[in-house]
Amino acid sequence: MNVLIIGGGNMGSTYARSFLRSHITDKDNMMILEKSPEKAIRLSSQDIGKVYGTAEECISKSDLIILAVKPQDTPKLFADIKPQVDAQQVFLSIMAGVKIKTIADALGVNKIIRAMPNLPAQIGMGMTAFTSSDEVTRIELVTVQNLLNTTGKTVYVESEEDIDAATAISGSGPAYVFYFMRAMIESAKSMGFSESQAELLVSQTFRGAVELHNKSNFSCDEWIQKVASRGGTTEAAMKKFNGNDLDANIRAGAKAALDRAIELGKS
Ligand SMILES: NC(=O)c1ccc[n+]([C@@H]2O[C@H](COP(=O)([O-])OP(=O)(O)OC[C@H]3O[C@@H](n4cnc5c(N)ncnc54)[C@H](OP(=O)(O)O)[C@@H]3O)[C@@H](O)[C@H]2O)c1
Repeated sequence: MNVLIIGGGNMGSTYARSFLRSHITDKDNMMILEKSPEKAIRLSSQDIGKVYGTAEECISKSDLIILAVKPQDTPKLFADIKPQVDAQQVFLSIMAGVKIKTIADALGVNKIIRAMPNLPAQIGMGMTAFTSSDEVTRIELVTVQNLLNTTGKTVYVESEEDIDAATAISGSGPAYVFYFMRAMIESAKSMGFSESQAELLVSQTFRGAVELHNKSNFSCDEWIQKVASRGGTTEAAMKKFNGNDLDANIRAGAKAALDRAIELGKS
């Protein structure tokens, strides 16, 4: 299968590297279409596939075309590639907020998979939600899922509404985690730890808590109960969090992200 990635930026190059590292594709079947000449030169030197500068040179050779440009660049992209595409090709879009119908109408194609990855895909620890149009066959869907799995974990969702919801949780989620980590690092520094000590205390605490959660059947509530003994330090912190409605604020933040994802999808 010949894979073409359009847009060799952060995500596009991450995908190329992940696919090659996992040996799901090899360099001879891997193509990147990148409009920026400087980036194209840099990509060529990384030896992650053949790099092209125009759609005419590569679209017709591709079985799977991955759309990885910024959403605002789509009108120009669609105009560039429309004359070259054909209905047998499978399209995988990772562009935030760009609907399957928008791609189908703009390109006159119907085998379209829409995915929402997140930033940890860069280190093979990503979370990707994906869905597809009815015309994508089961084999095509499994092939694409295997490719996406090289960047972390994946979940198939039934509708594009679920993609918006995943955008608000796993797409934006790394920033929520960094927000919480930052507050804890600043707390640690205010208690006298150096920057590096504070970062170590916090990052290892996050890593350990997530691993513990992943390796057990206990819920978050049950784990909180295990850490928080009656009258102890953790309970004191929990009382403060609850008094300040921290839980409700986090939910409100995620809801704001969902509303924005829906709004962007309409524009
Ligand atoms: N970054 C993330 O964590 C993340 C997470 C989920 C989804 N996404 C989605 O992934 C997509 C790519 O994001 P990114 O962060 O990788 O962006 P990026 O680093 O800006 O990469 C996009 C690349 O595409 C190039 N490009 C633009 N129009 C093109 C065209 N017509 N033909 C060929 N190349 C073209 C750009 O060149 P120029 O620089 O010259 O414009 C740029 O090199 C976005 O739609 C975003 O919504 C990103």
